[in-house]
Amino acid sequence: MDSKLIEQEAADVPPAPKKVFVKTYGCQMNVYDSQRMTDALAAEGYVASQTAEDADLVLLNTCHIREKAAEKVYSELGRLRKLKEDRASAGGEMLIGVAGCVAQAEGGEIIRRAKAVDLVIGPQTYHRLPDAIRRVRGGEKVVETDYAIEDKFEHLPAAKPAIVRSRGVTAFLTVQEGCDKFCTFCVVPYTRGSETSRSVAQIVAEAEGLARAGVREVTLLGQNVNAWHGEGPAKAGKTEEWGLGRLLSRLAEIPGIERLRYTTSHPRDMDDELIAAHRDLDTLMPYLHLPVQAGSDRILKAMNRRHTADDYRRLIDRIRSARSDIAMSGDFIVGFPGETDEDFAETLKIVRDIGYAQAFSFKYSPRPGTPGADLDGQVPEPVKDCRLQELQALLASQQKAFAAGLVGGDMGVLLEKEGRYEGQLVGRSPWLQPVVIDDAAGEIGDIIKVRITHANANSLSARAA
Ligand code: 5AD
Ligand code: SF4
Repeated sequence: MDSKLIEQEAADVPPAPKKVFVKTYGCQMNVYDSQRMTDALAAEGYVASQTAEDADLVLLNTCHIREKAAEKVYSELGRLRKLKEDRASAGGEMLIGVAGCVAQAEGGEIIRRAKAVDLVIGPQTYHRLPDAIRRVRGGEKVVETDYAIEDKFEHLPAAKPAIVRSRGVTAFLTVQEGCDKFCTFCVVPYTRGSETSRSVAQIVAEAEGLARAGVREVTLLGQNVNAWHGEGPAKAGKTEEWGLGRLLSRLAEIPGIERLRYTTSHPRDMDDELIAAHRDLDTLMPYLHLPVQAGSDRILKAMNRRHTADDYRRLIDRIRSARSDIAMSGDFIVGFPGETDEDFAETLKIVRDIGYAQAFSFKYSPRPGTPGADLDGQVPEPVKDCRLQELQALLASQQKAFAAGLVGGDMGVLLEKEGRYEGQLVGRSPWLQPVVIDDAAGEIGDIIKVRITHANANSLSARAA
């Protein structure tokens, strides 16, 4: 082939698409945001990459909930700076952006401390990402952390069905953001702003799109998801205010949506309609993440949780009367300022009283700017360590007992992916446990009936029933 022809062919080859690598820290809401950022950039011709090494744009979608989160980001930025320098010396280019709650909290400080960063973008402004990237390419360093007046969801492109499907048969859908509760330990009201709910129409349209793309299970997300409220569709010229229970009933009508979940909830927002939804909707999975944080009324008050331990016990009784097989999940904090051994014993007591199928527990970590950080009586680290160990041992034993109680029984499992061995499929139980099935007769996306044969440390084994 002569050189002219080679040149001609090279000119015909379209330029390779740019690659974006998004690294996600923290919660499920950040997982959702990372996907939406990837979708926004896909509309600009970016394809997702699995590593920073071959990416043209690296975005860190960060979390600020507990200590050292910001430090982790800075150390990752140090590693990326080297990659960026190597790329530049090879004549290439790599852009680096910081998104999420650390971006919101630190703003321009990030660019002052980490010179390799080109862009800082907050959780409420990431719909402006394509424009921000253009400005960066024009030589600017961009900080976009103001609370946008416009609704970001109105400006974000819908994901392409093939991309949605490639992410699996389960999906997250953010319906609510922000928090007005001001628990004294928590940064969320400062990083994510006040409570906002997406409209019924937006949520239904997004859920329908997910279902059409092959998604079978949708988890509604919100920092305070059960504070969601919105105007239902007009009937005879009148509209009604809906709560999460009504929204779930509406979403349950969408063909293809077989399973619904929601997280994270606050005990004060568990209203009657939502509890009734657990009784009435087969689609709503019998699993509820409802953090109590602590068992002592004194500590609950200091945390500004605005309910007592007995309020929580009574609430769980009502939920269990509505849906007897519901499994509880929770979050706990040990070593909140002023927590005594007696207070901690109350936390162990409430855990014993309720019985959790799953739980997350943390040592209290003072967050700058929150009231808890300034309280007297900060608990020494070794005391927190001891309490956390004791609490986690109790929670682990409950989780194990819950899984063991399922052995020999039948359940529906949503098939999610292929297993490690030929013929094996892995799915999810109604209670979120991974279930490994050796002889599954079904396709990914099907819900099949299985019999549980064994409870493992972090999964269940089953055979087709
Ligand atoms: N220290 C420790 N744990 C915290 N959480 C939130 N803020 C803090 C903090 N300052 C925990 C709570 C919350 C979960 C998401 O993180 O248990 O429910
Ligand atoms: Fe972290 Fe909370 Fe922000 Fe989620 S909302 S990323 S958990 S600080």
